[in-house]
Amino acid sequence: MSNRGIVRRFHDMPLRFKLILSFLVVIAIGGIVSLFIGTRLEHATIISQAEAKVRHDLASAWMVYHEKSNSIRDIIWLSAHRKFLRAALQSGRYEGVAAELEVTRRQFGLDILTVADGRGRVVVRARRPDVTGDDESGDPFVSRALEGRPTSGTVIVSRAELLKEGPDLAEQAYFKFIPTPKAVERSEDHEENGMMLKSASPVEDENGALLGVIYAGLLFNRNYELVDQVKDIVFKGEKYKGHDIGTATLFQHDLRISTNVLDDKGNRAVGTRVSREVNEAVLGRGASYVGRAFVVTAWYITAYEPIRDIEGRIIGMLYVGMLEKPYIDLRNRVMATFAGLAGLCTLFLLGLLAFVARQITRPLAVMVEAADRIARGDLSHRIGIGGRDEIGQLAQAFNRMTEDLHSARDDLTQWGRTLERRVEERTHQLREAQDQLIQSEKLASLGKMAAGVAHEINNPLTSIMLNTHLLLEETGDGSEAREPLTLVAEEAARCAQIVSGLLNFARQTPATTVRADVNEIIERTVQLHEKQASVRNIRIERDLDRSLPAINLDKNKIQQVFSNLTINACEAMPDGGSLRITSRLSRDGTGIEIVFTDTGVGIPRDNIPKLFDPFFTTKSLGTGLGLAVSYGIVRQRGGTIEVRSEVGRGSTFTVRIPLEETGEEPEREEVSS
Ligand SMILES: Nc1ncnc2c1ncn2[C@@H]1O[C@H](COP(=O)(O)OP(=O)(O)OP(=O)(O)O)[C@@H](O)[C@H]1O
Ligand SMILES: [Mg+2]
Repeated sequence: MSNRGIVRRFHDMPLRFKLILSFLVVIAIGGIVSLFIGTRLEHATIISQAEAKVRHDLASAWMVYHEKSNSIRDIIWLSAHRKFLRAALQSGRYEGVAAELEVTRRQFGLDILTVADGRGRVVVRARRPDVTGDDESGDPFVSRALEGRPTSGTVIVSRAELLKEGPDLAEQAYFKFIPTPKAVERSEDHEENGMMLKSASPVEDENGALLGVIYAGLLFNRNYELVDQVKDIVFKGEKYKGHDIGTATLFQHDLRISTNVLDDKGNRAVGTRVSREVNEAVLGRGASYVGRAFVVTAWYITAYEPIRDIEGRIIGMLYVGMLEKPYIDLRNRVMATFAGLAGLCTLFLLGLLAFVARQITRPLAVMVEAADRIARGDLSHRIGIGGRDEIGQLAQAFNRMTEDLHSARDDLTQWGRTLERRVEERTHQLREAQDQLIQSEKLASLGKMAAGVAHEINNPLTSIMLNTHLLLEETGDGSEAREPLTLVAEEAARCAQIVSGLLNFARQTPATTVRADVNEIIERTVQLHEKQASVRNIRIERDLDRSLPAINLDKNKIQQVFSNLTINACEAMPDGGSLRITSRLSRDGTGIEIVFTDTGVGIPRDNIPKLFDPFFTTKSLGTGLGLAVSYGIVRQRGGTIEVRSEVGRGSTFTVRIPLEETGEEPEREEVSS
C-alpha cells in the first residue's frame, strides 16, 4: 500500500483506534530503542566485567607461574648449600652425589637436576648419571651462575640438549602439529624443542669462592601440573553444564604444549596452535590480548600474555580463558526477564490505554449521537456530560446551542402560525368586504328597482282592490261571480302585501331613534307571537340580561327585525320545538347581542350566502323579503346579523347592536353551517 493509502486509512479509523495505534507506535519505538540500548549496555557490562575478570585471572595465573619458578629457585638455592655437594665439588669425588640428587629431583618433580664444576663442565646428572663431562658453560643460566649470579626463567631447550638430559624428555617435548585452520602458516610441521622453567645457582665454599654450578629444569611440554594448578587455584574447578569454566594454556611460540582446554574427543588439545589474531598481537607485537576468541571447540573470553626468556625474547604465551557460554546465558536470561517485564508493562499500558481511549471517545460518541438526534429534529435532547475539561465545555456549548436552536425554532413556528392566522384573517376580511360590497350593490340596485316597481304597481293595485270590494258589495251572496271576485280581492291584497314589503325594503326612511330597553322590545315581540306559537306546539324561552343598558334605537324597526326572526324560527319548526331568545352584552363590551336559537330544520350550507338576498325564499307563500328588510334595518343602526346553522338541528341568528349609535357601517355577516 502507498504511503498516502496508509495515511488515508489511518485518517478514516475510529478515534479510539487512532489513539491506541499512536500510543502503540510510541510504546513499540520506545520498547525497541530501550531494548536495543539495554542489550548493548548489558552486553557491554557483562562482557567487560568478564574481560576484567579474565585479566585478573591471568594475573593470578602469572602468580602461580612465578611461584613455580620461585620454588625451583629455592630448591636450587638450598641444594647449592648442601654440604655433600660442596664437599664433592671441593674434592672432585662424585660417588653417591647423583643418587642423592636424584632423590631431590623426584621429590620436587624436577625434570633435570645437574651439577657443573667451576668451568661449566657437567659433573653430576641426576637423571642420567652416565652422561657427564659435557661443557655447559655456554648456557646462559650456567654462565650467569658461574659469574656468581643465581638465575631463573623460562627458556627454549633444543632437542639435542633434551636428548642429553634424557631421550624421554626429547620425546615428551616433541609435537607433530595438528592442523589448525586459523593459525599462521608455518614451514615446519612439528616442534622438537621444549620450553622449560629453569633455575641455576652458583655453589660456593664457606668463603664464598665458586666451586661449581647446580641447575634444575621443569619441562612444560605435556606437563599439565602448572595449568591444572592455575585452573584449580584461579577457577576453583568450577564447571558449567559439565564443562570446565576456566582453562589455562602454555604456548611454546604459537603451539599448545600444556593445556586443559579439551578437544572434541575430550583430550587435552595439545599440538594445536593459536589463531593468527592472537599470534600477531602477542607474539608479533608483544602486547597482551584480551577478548573473545574461539578456542578449539568453543567461544572463550580470553587473556594472553607473552612469556619471555631471560634475554627478553618472546618464546611463548600464557593463556587463561573463561567459557563465554555462562555469560551469554546470563545475558540471555537477563534479556528474557527484561523482555518479559517490558511485555507485561506493554500489556498493562495497552489496557490502560484502551481505558483512557474509551474515556476520551465515549463522550464524543455521545455527542455524535446527540448531533444525529438533533439533525433528525429532536431539539429537546440534551447531553448529560459533566466535567470542566474541554469535552465538558464542548458538551455545555453543545447544549446551549441546542437550546438556542430550540427557542429559535419555536419562535419561527410561532411566527409562522401568527403569519398564517393573519393571512387567514386578512383573506377573510377581504372576502367579507367583497361580499358586503356585492351585497350592498345588489341591495342598492334592487332597492331602486323595487321602489320604482312598487310605486308604479301601487296605484293600479289600489284601484283593483277598491273596485273589487265595490263589486263584491254589489254582488249578492248567491251570485256565481262572488267566488272569483273574492279570489281577485285576496290575490290583490297579497300583491299589496308584497308591494308594501318591497316599499319597506326600499324605503330609506330616516330612523327615529329613542332611548330604549332591548329586553322590553323582546318581551313585546314575544307577546305578539306567543299564542300562535303555542298553537303550533312551539315554546318560546327568554334568557334576558336585565342589567343591559338602554340604547338609542328605532323601536318599531327593531321590533320588526325581532318579529321576522321569530316568525322564521317558528316556520322552521313545523312539528313544534323551542325558540330561545337571549340578550347579553357582547364579549368585548361594546354592544348588545340578541340571539335567536331554534330547534328547527336548519339551513343547507349552500343557502346561507343567499339568506339576505331579497326574494330568496324556500317557502311557497314566502316573499323572501323578511331577512333582507331586517338586514337593512340592523345595518342602518350600525349592527350586524350573524347566522350559524346545522341542518336537522336548528339555527342561531345573532343580532349585534353597538351601544353607541355609529350610523351605517359596512355590514358584517359571519356565516357557517
Ligand atoms: N330560522 C330559520 N330556519 C330555517 N330557515 C330559515 C330560518 N329563517 C329564514 N330561513 C330561510 O330563509 C328564507 C328567507 O327568509 P325570509 O324571512 O327572508 O323570507 P320568507 O320567510 O321565506 O318569506 P317572508 O319572510 O316574506 O314570509 C326562508 O325561506 C327560509 O328558507
Ligand atoms: Mg320570513
